[in-house]
Amino acid sequence: MKKISIAIDGPAAAGKSTVAKMIAEKLSYIYVDTGAMYRALTYKAIVKDIDINDEMAMERLLLHTTIELKPSTNGQLIFLDGEDVSNQIRGEEVTNKVSTVAAVKAVREEMVSRQQKFGMNGGVVMDGRDIGTKVMPNAELKIFLLASVDIRAERRHRENIQKGFPSNLDILKEEIMLRDKQDSEREISPLRKAEDAIELDTSTLSIEEVAAKIFNMARERIETK
Ligand code: CDP
Ligand code: CDP
Repeated sequence: MKKISIAIDGPAAAGKSTVAKMIAEKLSYIYVDTGAMYRALTYKAIVKDIDINDEMAMERLLLHTTIELKPSTNGQLIFLDGEDVSNQIRGEEVTNKVSTVAAVKAVREEMVSRQQKFGMNGGVVMDGRDIGTKVMPNAELKIFLLASVDIRAERRHRENIQKGFPSNLDILKEEIMLRDKQDSEREISPLRKAEDAIELDTSTLSIEEVAAKIFNMARERIETK
């Protein structure tokens, strides 16, 4: 069967990674969580006390950093210089700083180049903010996931509680709105829908419904490739 590339973009907590993982599993494709890559670099900068606004320092840091994504039975694990940092990169400090790191030009260029290598041979589902516009502009299927900010904050809140993490709905909503603003307003590869992306508002859809819709579109694209 022909393999296609699937790009899933959208704002924070729209359901991108959950759906991308489900689709990748169903199609036996590689799943690439590009947000986790920016988070891993942010985590390293915090640990090493590097000024995240210093473009040259951040570029140097990334060039001396390996980031690997490894599938496991517990979802995708993120390895930073050989160490599993899958949990550490979801912490509050990383979340609050990651959009600043992701706006650094040299960081974006290097990350995009690494992500393009993952997607080189097709058979990939990649999620992020600039996948349809920049990383895989030729992807056969591009999805832009949306949901109201209240719903997205509630979903994250529920997820945190389920995982036993501390969570405050109002703070979460503020954090999501701020990150969306930073991601949409940055100069390089801002968060935006690719012209040929299909917009899907998931506000009233379950994760299974979203996955089924995307899977059907993927199947059509595979059959006509
Ligand atoms: O899962 P969540 O929506 O909270 O975020 P994420 O996908 O883990 O991405 C974290 C941050 O990385 C985003 O807020 C963006 O600032 C940045 N990012 C990006 O700039 N470009 C991407 N392709 C993916 C993430
Ligand atoms: O990757 P992204 O930040 O876009 O979102 P996510 O981490 O995949 O989804 C955030 C949370 O919303 C997860 O707990 C999902 O299970 C949940 N979700 C949902 O309940 N219904 C949807 N239609 C989409 C996501």
